[in-house]
Amino acid sequence: MLAILGGTGPEGKGLALRFAMAGETPIIGSRDAARGEAAAQELAQSAPGTVTIKGSDNAGAVAAADVVFLAFPYEGQRSVLEDLGPSLKGKIVVSVIAPMEFERGKGASAVEVEAGSAAQEAQELLPDSQVVAAFQNASAEELLNPNVTMEGDVVVCSDHADAKRLVMNLADKINNLRGVDGGSLANAKYVEQITPMLVNINRIYKIHAGIRIVGI
Ligand SMILES: NC(=O)c1ccc[n+]([C@@H]2O[C@H](COP(=O)([O-])OP(=O)(O)OC[C@H]3O[C@@H](n4cnc5c(N)ncnc54)[C@H](OP(=O)(O)O)[C@@H]3O)[C@@H](O)[C@H]2O)c1
Repeated sequence: MLAILGGTGPEGKGLALRFAMAGETPIIGSRDAARGEAAAQELAQSAPGTVTIKGSDNAGAVAAADVVFLAFPYEGQRSVLEDLGPSLKGKIVVSVIAPMEFERGKGASAVEVEAGSAAQEAQELLPDSQVVAAFQNASAEELLNPNVTMEGDVVVCSDHADAKRLVMNLADKINNLRGVDGGSLANAKYVEQITPMLVNINRIYKIHAGIRIVGI
């Protein structure tokens, strides 16, 4: 079972929808169980065909899953992980977080993280979990529209080889996406910092840009 914490937002909902369409059973976590359940029902109705999507509070979602996605804003990371840390022990934790801020007239820019990246900070906070960084460059709008064929690569970074392989395989399950081995978790900062650039490109071209690594 895959849990998606903060899965009531567009990025988490989009991932839940795509994983459900690929035959997985995601469970949407929220700070409020009723909100998680409502998001799951709404998503299941928007999916083509029959899919199973569950909803819960964040703690219930973690308890039900082996692989837990962090899909809430960076600002919430420390308190969520300090709260749920003990129940995340031994689990694979996938950070899709791209710390970002917006300034009027300047657009999006990356927020500096002392640990190097949000994913490295998550690994520091969760020493007994296997943290993997992935999907930070996948557009929520594209993920959320089941009629859109996704394009591009998901660069996957981790210091845990088996967990990294598992998440690359999950990326491959989403129609037309490809998991690419991005090396160690230290590389997550480069991937996270691409996202504000994509946001700025989106504004210029009025599109939902992604990334593709060529030559492999
Ligand atoms: N949007 C994109 O296109 C995109 C693309 C790539 C990566 N990302 C990354 O994916 C993550 C989610 O993006 P999003 O646009 O879906 O975010 P969002 O809508 O701002 O937040 C997602 C959910 O997180 C929960 N949340 C909000 N503030 C929180 C806090 N302080 N502590 C704990 N939970 C909190 C809320 O759920 P509840 O109130 O139900 O708990 C909210 O519905 C972000 O880290 C972002 O950098 C987004």
